[in-house]
Amino acid sequence: MAADRMKHLLCASLILWSSNCYAVDRNNFKTCEQSSFCRRQRKFHPDVSPYRALLDTLEISHVAASLNLLHEKTQVLLKLEICGLEDNTVRFRITELETKRPRFEASDVLVKSPRTYRLSVEKQTTEELMLLGRDSLRISVSARPFRIDVLSGGELVTSVNARGLLLFEHSRTRGNTLTERVSSTVGSMWTKLKAVFTSGKEEAASEEKNEGESPEGEEKAHEKQPDLGTDEKEDQEEMVEEEEEGTWEESFKSHHDSKPYGPMSVGLDFSLPGFEDVYGIPEHADSFRLRTTSSGDPYRLYNLDVFQYELENPMALYGSVPYMVAHSPERTLGLFWLNPSETWIDIASNTAGKTVFGKMLDFVRSANEGPQIDVRWMSESGIVDAFLLLGPSPTDVFRQYAALAGTQALPPLFALAYHQSRWNYNDEDDVRAVDAGFDKHNLPMDVIWLDIEHTDGKRYFTWDPNKFPNPADMQNDIAGKKRKMVTIVDPHLKVDSGYSVYNEAYSRGYLVKNKGGGDYEGWCWPGSAAYLDFINPEVRDWYASKFAYESYQGSTDILFTWNDMNEPSVFNGPEVTLHKDALHHGGWEHRDVHNLYGFYQQWGTVGGQLRRSGGNERPFVLARAFFAGSQRFGAVWTGDNVGEWSHLKASIQMVLSLNLCGLSFSGADIGGFFKNPPTELLIRWYQAGAYQPLYRAHAHIDTARREPWIFGSDTTALVRAALRERYALLPYWYTVFFWAYRSGMPVMRALWIEFPKEEQTFLIEDEYMIGNALLVHPVTEAASRGVNVHLPGAHEVWYDVHTQKKYSGGQEINYPVKLSTIPVFQRGGTIIPRKDRPRRSSACMSGDPYTLYVALDDQKFAEGELYMDDEHSFNFEKENEYQLRHFLFKDGTLKASVSSHIPPGKYSSIEWLERIVIVGIAQPMLSIMMKQPGSQDVPLAYEYTPELSSLIVRRPGVRLTADWTIVIR
Ligand code: GLC
Repeated sequence: MAADRMKHLLCASLILWSSNCYAVDRNNFKTCEQSSFCRRQRKFHPDVSPYRALLDTLEISHVAASLNLLHEKTQVLLKLEICGLEDNTVRFRITELETKRPRFEASDVLVKSPRTYRLSVEKQTTEELMLLGRDSLRISVSARPFRIDVLSGGELVTSVNARGLLLFEHSRTRGNTLTERVSSTVGSMWTKLKAVFTSGKEEAASEEKNEGESPEGEEKAHEKQPDLGTDEKEDQEEMVEEEEEGTWEESFKSHHDSKPYGPMSVGLDFSLPGFEDVYGIPEHADSFRLRTTSSGDPYRLYNLDVFQYELENPMALYGSVPYMVAHSPERTLGLFWLNPSETWIDIASNTAGKTVFGKMLDFVRSANEGPQIDVRWMSESGIVDAFLLLGPSPTDVFRQYAALAGTQALPPLFALAYHQSRWNYNDEDDVRAVDAGFDKHNLPMDVIWLDIEHTDGKRYFTWDPNKFPNPADMQNDIAGKKRKMVTIVDPHLKVDSGYSVYNEAYSRGYLVKNKGGGDYEGWCWPGSAAYLDFINPEVRDWYASKFAYESYQGSTDILFTWNDMNEPSVFNGPEVTLHKDALHHGGWEHRDVHNLYGFYQQWGTVGGQLRRSGGNERPFVLARAFFAGSQRFGAVWTGDNVGEWSHLKASIQMVLSLNLCGLSFSGADIGGFFKNPPTELLIRWYQAGAYQPLYRAHAHIDTARREPWIFGSDTTALVRAALRERYALLPYWYTVFFWAYRSGMPVMRALWIEFPKEEQTFLIEDEYMIGNALLVHPVTEAASRGVNVHLPGAHEVWYDVHTQKKYSGGQEINYPVKLSTIPVFQRGGTIIPRKDRPRRSSACMSGDPYTLYVALDDQKFAEGELYMDDEHSFNFEKENEYQLRHFLFKDGTLKASVSSHIPPGKYSSIEWLERIVIVGIAQPMLSIMMKQPGSQDVPLAYEYTPELSSLIVRRPGVRLTADWTIVIR
């Protein structure tokens, strides 16, 4: 077994929980210095940019304003396209003007081809071009040195290449001069590779190994060196001098990267004047607000299975979203770098001293200059494809990003409830016992998960015949409790001629190839494993067919899917993943598409679930690896965390970052994957998780069992209370998720998203909002007796949801906590729907009555919404079977009507209103009347608590989908 995993097991079972066991082995993963393109890019610091914009080559169409860029030394030409996109967004693309080997473009990430409009020329000289766009957009292109300035609303918001860091490593052949623009060898290799993928499925059977073989392609590249003239030879010498180790081939530990196409990285800088704070580029186990990187490594985006990841670290993790959001009190700006190859990001700031961690200033600018963030993106291959989302508000930026990468798929309601997982539930009896345990202890639970041990020898889509002989019966029993199940389906396939899924994939040529064209083989859970080439749409389609009930024997309609290890994880591969020179459909190198592998697997899996229900039922698929746009396919989680307090804290920062970047449906393993968490931590994690979008407990195979009732009745009661809070709020979660689906607004929001002008909120990352109404500050310290809660908004009021105590905003309070306390506040001015009757699962709550929690602001005003549909099918999309209800409290009257925010839907439901709780309301009241069109007014019973200014209106009894008014006099 791979050394890492061996260590994994040893650590877990032998040296149980010794602390030095729980640390990442940094040697397994590259630093920027060890990644040759990152080193080259980072070293590139010209005084002025070597590029000149050839303004006389300008061509303008409805798609783009395009012109050529000339590298003054090499004479290589690039093509720059500037596209005005609808809704205050600009796209910059830089490609090679001529190349025989195309560069990968990640167009599948975009939800649709962005709608462009024609930019017009305001001014053009030989040295400067001014383009005019919509919404007061002006784009100035300076010729020499090349630079772009983007102005919005008359202000400079972004400068591109202001630091001259555009470095586009053009196609060339090893040993050739910088001036040779396009390599014939590269072209011919490309043609050869295309042929392998288009015709030669039989070649898949080639017996070449991945390691240690002679790099045939590379030798060919040497053979074909063209004859050089004298000048060129001189240039070549200069070039060779410049070209350091790793440029043409690279080794890391025992692994060799043959780099048949040589260096082809792209890098570019963006300056963001007026900004001090920038967030995003998940996934990193680091602060939510990004740090400056000049004193260490850049942030890295390269999907990796990092064993025992460390906190406060810019190292790459399982997923990558190359998207960042800069925010200031004046403006919010998004920057999306659409490139799925290995990417590093440097961040500098001229106010870097302000970081949460008190780092030194990166570099000092003149005192009169305002703040500025400088960002540098560096990717190993592909093109420069950057989107600037000009906001100006956070809501605008979320909408603009959603128009590009799509929105969160609306989950079926059960997926928002509580999930019980561990590696592993041992057999069918164990599953039944766990299920029964939840009932016995009155703990709500929706989904039981089965990890890799449920399979027949790690062959996905199969069941261990001894432990799970009757999987369909087991699922039917679970279905009888109105619960669901999930099985794990990893992307690697056991190399085994007796395994039909592998056999079929093999004979159809659906496996990733090694650099020589034979099937790539690596090591993963099953031992020797092959990797499905999900980049190929035909493979995704075939994979989808494997989820059909007749194909996935023993699966039923309550069985959903977990895609793990899809970075992909290769235990004996470089950095525990595929070799970069492995090959995919279309002749792409793994290098080109690495960060998209998990995205494509989740896509195929979603396709399978859709197909098995005839497209009627909403899928639920959890993935570990992801890219921008993965939100369209389901949920993600933060991988193998540790049952330590610091990891509980980090989960908040990490999930905030994922939410900011489109992946609203995300969470962390409750309790921590590794280690046995102390009971207090487990309780606090259940409490915090109740307020994170994905609520799933999970644990390593070597941890002690930790179902919530194992630690005694006090603990069970505390966990029960946390679970019940989650379940009671499901109508609110569902409504907030509906908006994530509809408009791209994150579910879990940093405070500044709701309070964009309030600078104190910009550094806060231990507290957040769910939607616009609930503020949560989870307890993440042992033996805590109180937390400091920042209540934002000088004109806001907040209500403790447990005590109804009112606080004014614009202050920090020390809020005392007991072990039972989850600090949660409802914002004055909002209305939250809840279902307060405890049940076994979310499906058992269907038909239950609602309670509305109305929290008045100082103007005695409040409003809120409730989204309703059948909670599982696509009828909301296909048949308009939904209802978005609007509740408005104003002038002593609470009015329910259909929301005007979306077209009216036609879902009907018998669910009714059991109670209304209004806080912040003054006495006296003479009467409370329910008024409905066509009915007589009905007086309602109520109860008033003067100390809390709280009113409970009993049994309004109306349907949630009806229009009604309650008048309080
Ligand atoms: C990986 C996953 C973890 C899972 C384990 C076994 O480590 O991250 O959640 O339990 O593999 O499948």
